[in-house]
Amino acid sequence: MTQDEQKRAAAQAAIQHIPAGCVVGVGTGSTANYFIDELSNIKHKIEGAVASSEATAQRLRGHGIEVIDLNSIDALTVYVDGTDEITEHLAMIKGGGGALTREKIVAAVAKKFICIADQSKLVQVLGKFPLPVEVIPMARSYVAREITRLGGEPSLRQGFITDNGNIILDVHGLRILNPVELETALNQITGIVTNGLFAKRGADVLLLGTDTGIRTIA
Ligand code: A5P
Repeated sequence: MTQDEQKRAAAQAAIQHIPAGCVVGVGTGSTANYFIDELSNIKHKIEGAVASSEATAQRLRGHGIEVIDLNSIDALTVYVDGTDEITEHLAMIKGGGGALTREKIVAAVAKKFICIADQSKLVQVLGKFPLPVEVIPMARSYVAREITRLGGEPSLRQGFITDNGNIILDVHGLRILNPVELETALNQITGIVTNGLFAKRGADVLLLGTDTGIRTIA
């Protein structure tokens, strides 16, 4: 299977995990886009979707799926999203598409986080993929210095503004042996809105598209 076929297979597998009548949290990126395409086939069975980005909201609406405001619901049954890297312990780096803040909010609310990915995303140690960090623009230099003190090499994502009007620093050179510890440390730096480590609230299930079919890790 090609990488795209693996992504699509993982997205198809996730549909089996969507209970009838629920609101579905939907992530951002190419794998999440396959999921939206699959979700459109069962749109009459769900109440609607919460989007983790403007791009996802647009695609959901394009498929005739109602986009629901997260503030108008008390609970979210399930969230389905891709990842940039994930370990067997289900800790992730996310935010390659820059949607990490809204993704982390939807993930925090969801009872169950289902990660869908192709096999290239499964890693032993997080950090080869540069860690995205969303930053308030006036704090850019300060945050970059603090991240350097933690051992990372931040670089500004050129020409990119998040849905929330902020910038992204992509942090290179990390070998993240303790993702919860680094996520916590980054959360303490004033000016960082969100860091792309999803470790304290990682995935509950990984549906991994592989050459030999879907591998489930839970
Ligand atoms: C979006 O900000 C990201 O968190 C994506 O979920 C992640 O980058 C995975 O994207 P792909 O499915 O396109 O690889």
